[in-house]
Amino acid sequence: MMDAPVITNHKPRVLVTRRWPKAVEAQLAERFDAQFNTADKPMSAADFRDALARFDAILPTVTDKLGPEALDVTRPQTRLLANYGVGFSHIDADSVRAHGITVSNTPDVLSECTADLAMTLMLMVARRAGEGERELRAGEWTGWRPTHLVGAKVSGKTLGIVGFGRIGQAVAQRAHHGFGMKIVVQNRSPVRREVLARYGATQVKTIEDLMPLCDFVSLHCPGGAANRHLIDSRRLNLMKPDAFLINTARGEVVDEHALAQALMFDCIGGAALDVFDGEPRIAPALLGCDNLVMLPHLGSATRETREAMGMRVLDNVTAFFEGRAPCDKVL
Ligand code: 8YV
Repeated sequence: MMDAPVITNHKPRVLVTRRWPKAVEAQLAERFDAQFNTADKPMSAADFRDALARFDAILPTVTDKLGPEALDVTRPQTRLLANYGVGFSHIDADSVRAHGITVSNTPDVLSECTADLAMTLMLMVARRAGEGERELRAGEWTGWRPTHLVGAKVSGKTLGIVGFGRIGQAVAQRAHHGFGMKIVVQNRSPVRREVLARYGATQVKTIEDLMPLCDFVSLHCPGGAANRHLIDSRRLNLMKPDAFLINTARGEVVDEHALAQALMFDCIGGAALDVFDGEPRIAPALLGCDNLVMLPHLGSATRETREAMGMRVLDNVTAFFEGRAPCDKVL
């Protein structure tokens, strides 16, 4: 018996590398010839090389290491990497440029929730919420007393923000207008005077200028090679001895071994991390630090935001295959 004729599908072939919110997957399935990673397992470099030969677009996330090894192909079929997330340092810019592949991301829609999580971490570490919960669950709480788990006041303190883009500004909005904090900013380029005025913020030139002024330092700059270990032992040493470091940006921005040392020797008050270098692996030195709060990369993890991120990718892919530039083209 002859094989059934192949019905040609003219919809673009699109690979979704992880499970996405149901509503977005449904729309993707309707608009494109979409393949979903139903096992929800991260793909290997070999899987990507294979996918690059077969799909018109790949829709990756932060867990997809699209480095030179994964992109080591000749004449890929893939024309677009429409990233689910704002950070795209997991995608090697030189390789995609060499192939003429377009890259888009999902800014704006996750700024509020990521800023909310930075505030969560700031409050958790200053008010010793992680330590308190661990104590209670271990059955070790002996009751209220005036000296029990005394933390640091957040309201009215000085917050340093490294990287004053959309998320940095959303943090300043909450910290200044909600918690009466004084805002100090360090950013690659000068921030417009009216933007600083919105949050009563002052801009300083360097991280060296910022560190000694702040009770809290929150990181909101991009990751990648340029910012690897931006916060190293020298800069940690410039922080006040009771100040706190918050990282919701990318793990590689902080030298985690230097941070573990600073925490163990009480050179700083504490730290709170949502992102880790080489995540989901956690540097063993960090696990022993009590004055450290750790969350498993939850910055954008709300139902509303994860759906909005998916819809933003959908818009970018649709625009691309209709011959328009995706509105969030980054490479
Ligand atoms: C995402 C993030 O969940 O958008 C980003 O850059 O860090 C997170 O909010 C993740 O990157 C999805 O790929």
